[in-house]
Amino acid sequence: MYVCLCRGITEKQINRQIALGVDTLEKLQKQLGAGVDCGNCCDYLQQMLADAGISAAADDVIE
Ligand code: FES
Repeated sequence: MYVCLCRGITEKQINRQIALGVDTLEKLQKQLGAGVDCGNCCDYLQQMLADAGISAAADDVIE
C-alpha cells in the first residue's frame, strides 16, 4: 500500500526503515523523502512510528 503518494513510498519501505532504527518523522523524511511535499501523509507516518512503539515521533516536520 502506498503511504506517500507524492513520492510513491510504500508501507513496506517505511516499515523497513523503522526496523533499521529510524525513529522520528524527520528521519523518515530524510531517508525516504516521505512527507516532504504536500505533507498529507505525515499523520499516517507518525501513526506508523507510534504503532511501532516509538513514542517520540513528535512534530518533526520539515517545511
Ligand atoms: S503524500 Fe506524502 S508528501 Fe504528499
